[in-house]
Amino acid sequence: MDDRKDRAELDAETMDRLLQDAMDGVLSTELAPWADAAVSQMMARTKMLMGTVVDYKELMMRYACAIKEVRTKFDVLNTEFKTRYQRNPISSISTRLKRTASITQKLARRGLSFSLESIEQHVNDVAGLRVICSYIDDIYTIADALLRQDDITLVTKKDYIANPKPNGYRSLHLIVSVPVFFADRKKEMKVEVQIRTIAMDFWASLEHQLKYKQEIPNQQEIIAQLKACAEVINATDEKMLAIRREIEEMADTPTEEDVLLDKLSRLDLNVDM
Ligand code: GTP
Ligand code: MG
Repeated sequence: MDDRKDRAELDAETMDRLLQDAMDGVLSTELAPWADAAVSQMMARTKMLMGTVVDYKELMMRYACAIKEVRTKFDVLNTEFKTRYQRNPISSISTRLKRTASITQKLARRGLSFSLESIEQHVNDVAGLRVICSYIDDIYTIADALLRQDDITLVTKKDYIANPKPNGYRSLHLIVSVPVFFADRKKEMKVEVQIRTIAMDFWASLEHQLKYKQEIPNQQEIIAQLKACAEVINATDEKMLAIRREIEEMADTPTEEDVLLDKLSRLDLNVDM
């Protein structure tokens, strides 16, 4: 037992001495300036990397704020429409910030390098909002109301409702630019807005799953079935809109008092709703 302890102590001592010799050797030879340079180069690179990470996180924070700005605009529109038309044109809103891996993949697919400038210039969907409406006409009402706001700039608009994709995909896509006010500056940020009906969203979420399935034996068959479903869904969306309009037209013409009373009761709502 004691013998083993002595050996252990001896080993530790030897190790210490050897290490010290090695250190002295390194520091006393011509390797020293090289080691110094390597260490400071490594420190500089680490600092640069940390700086880039901080800048990237800041950029993501700005996109998250841009989402908040646009989301508030839709919330305000929804509240206002509710007091005007007794129903919510917006059924739900979801938001997402594109993941770093997806940003990297998108840039790589386009042969672009990963830089903050590149992201801001070429990736238009870092900040994303999906607005789900009950009826087709609400999509355009809501989109027009957003685009009329004088701080919103339309970058691109793709109307996949008027011109559905060959697979049957329908949705209205807007890329807008919105100013975000920070403590010391104002930044224009791009946001992708997808507006669709509940039915269109139902279809898109199922179709989306296809992209993640590698080997489907009857893929062509599923694609054909989805395309057929898209047609049925579109016909249903249009029929629902026609029925809603019919019901609205059937309603008795209200008196002036009725209109005022109705407005009063609806303005009684909780603004958080
Ligand atoms: P990315 O697809 O984002 O690279 O951009 P893009 O230039 O093709 O834009 P587009 O406006 O066509 O599509 C943007 C987004 O809409 C996609 O990222 C999807 O979220 C959605 N989208 C577009 N096409 C389809 C589709 O065929 N099926 C489904 N489920 N979603 C789609
Ligand atoms: Mg996208």
